[in-house]
Amino acid sequence: MISHIPVLLEESINSLNIKKNGTYIDATYGCGGHTKLILSRLNNQGKIYAIDRDLKTLLKHKILDKRIIYINNNFSKLQNLFKNKTDIIDGILFDLGISSFQLNNPKRGFSYMFNGPLDMRINQNEKITAHDLLKHINVKKLSKILKIYGEEKYHKKIAYNIKKYIFNNKLNNTRDLSYVISIVNKKNKFKHPAKRSFQAIRIFLNKEIEELKKGLNISLKLLKIGGIISIISFHSIEDRIIKKFMKKHSSYQNQINNKLPLTKKQIDNFYTKNKKLTLKIIGRIFPNKNEILKNSRSRSAILRIAQKI
Ligand SMILES: C[S@@+](CC[C@H](N)C(=O)[O-])C[C@H]1O[C@@H](n2cnc3c(N)ncnc32)[C@H](O)[C@@H]1O
Repeated sequence: MISHIPVLLEESINSLNIKKNGTYIDATYGCGGHTKLILSRLNNQGKIYAIDRDLKTLLKHKILDKRIIYINNNFSKLQNLFKNKTDIIDGILFDLGISSFQLNNPKRGFSYMFNGPLDMRINQNEKITAHDLLKHINVKKLSKILKIYGEEKYHKKIAYNIKKYIFNNKLNNTRDLSYVISIVNKKNKFKHPAKRSFQAIRIFLNKEIEELKKGLNISLKLLKIGGIISIISFHSIEDRIIKKFMKKHSSYQNQINNKLPLTKKQIDNFYTKNKKLTLKIIGRIFPNKNEILKNSRSRSAILRIAQKI
């Protein structure tokens, strides 16, 4: 099985500006690629909370190090996990989606490349599988999911086909799903015809958008002043949410920028008056050509970075 290659590894960890004795959260531990690099920059007092909602992933890739605290849960639950504490973390990293370890395991049902059960649950303790979802959802809602989360042009026809085949008991595994989609969406030399629909079903089934929105808001509370949030996303739906979130919470910064030049005292006064949580946008980074050549999964990645001020 192809192992997972961490995306934007150096860039994302450099962006966190690791303090040797700092406390960090890797909200999407996966195969531990990013955690390992953070760890190499910490001293004995440093700490990493390694979160993943997939127990199998955590068990398989766990490394023994006293500085890592493993948590098998959703990152949307971070606030409860930290007992509503605030301003305690120096940096948070999100590397969204699923890993190659999950994608390339046919039994997990994430991939149109292999045949397997129509599962797609990131957390295998969740009750509803992709098959259950497709069986019970109506055409209109399914079509909307394919349109919104997959940006699939043929969403109506694909949704109709999926429902027809599943009703006739002819859609029982990932090969069937891939076939049913390909009838409508013909082969294209750049993208597999089923790519967008598989992505859409996975995102909806695992409530990935709700998770992201909650995770971002909680991160803002958990970060110390000066702490950094770095997020790697892989498609435009996620990136739009991250961009909007950063813009919203950096609006004071924008207001100040619009009023420039201001003295330091005026800026301090401004922040004291507006005691809300605020972010300063640091920037965004894309993978370079070399990385894309070595790891095609990185092609659509964007890293966005902001600092709590
Ligand atoms: C792209 S992989 C991370 C890979 C990791 N950075 C590495 O280099 O090995 C994303 C991981 O996040 C986990 N995940 C996805 N959504 C999650 C959520 N809402 N809460 C916690 N973990 C989640 C997945 O199970 C997967 O293992």
